Amino acid sequence: MNFEAIKGLLKEKIGSPYYENENCILFCGDTIEVQKKINKQIFNAIITSPPYNIGKEYEEIIALDKYVNWSEEWLKDSCNLLVDDGCLLLNLGYLSAVDTGRAIPIPYLLWDKVPLYLNQEIVWNYSAGVACKKYLSPRNEKILWYVKNKENYTFNLDPIRDKNVKYPNSMRHGKSRVNPLGKNPSDVWQIAKVTTGKNRSSKERTPHPCQFPLELINRLLLGFTRKDDIVLDPFVGSGTTIEACIRNGRYCVGIEILPEYCEIIKNRIENLLIQEKFEI
Ligand SMILES: C[S@@+](CC[C@H](N)C(=O)[O-])C[C@H]1O[C@@H](n2cnc3c(N)ncnc32)[C@H](O)[C@@H]1O
Repeated sequence: MNFEAIKGLLKEKIGSPYYENENCILFCGDTIEVQKKINKQIFNAIITSPPYNIGKEYEEIIALDKYVNWSEEWLKDSCNLLVDDGCLLLNLGYLSAVDTGRAIPIPYLLWDKVPLYLNQEIVWNYSAGVACKKYLSPRNEKILWYVKNKENYTFNLDPIRDKNVKYPNSMRHGKSRVNPLGKNPSDVWQIAKVTTGKNRSSKERTPHPCQFPLELINRLLLGFTRKDDIVLDPFVGSGTTIEACIRNGRYCVGIEILPEYCEIIKNRIENLLIQEKFEI
């Protein structure tokens, strides 16, 4: 099915979108309700960062067991929408639980609640973040890379190779022993967070409080999806996944519950599309 046909199908099942163009479609609604209406295997990949239950302006803190149950439900529904060689790239940080832990990595709570095969965990290391006095300042989040079929999934190493490496002893008998495109980028990725502040605000910053860096999503798309793939982000926030898909020749379906964030996304994507040439 091409993307035009997919958009037609989604509009039939869900109703009017908040925004659409030839590369993306955005629905304003609750992911649990919207995903249940879709109920068809159409996505090559799901890339997302859900609420962490930490009291951000878009969420209310709920009991930990309720959060885990809610997560399990949307994850199960998401996985039902993946094609047979599809993947899920799930970004998760930390939360606190009154009696059990101060900075509990959310993957410890959810990793086995996903009905897919966990291929690998990627550590996203960022250089700036919250300053802490009673414990170490967290400087990483995880991306759990799940695949539906452990023998058949997309992995493109060449486009994500690390070019900035110096190889000692890289020549043998006058021939290079290493890949000229660079080396495997490893499972630890150093990518700066999107920052705020008068003099240090990132160029890509929107008013959304928790925005993915484009560089992170660009790398996930290049490494784990193919050109023209259709990607779902069920918690699309400020629309980073949509922007990255457009920049990298993928299609994107986004779901976001808050209309004010949908408006940020619409403006973001319209501004992107009036640029003559996209830079990755
Ligand atoms: C961590 S943020 C995602 C940020 C996004 N990755 C970005 O780059 O902007 C989570 C988003 O999920 C949205 N959200 C929360 N509950 C939701 C629900 N039940 N259905 C759909 N979206 C929801 C929030 O409003 C918020 O924008």
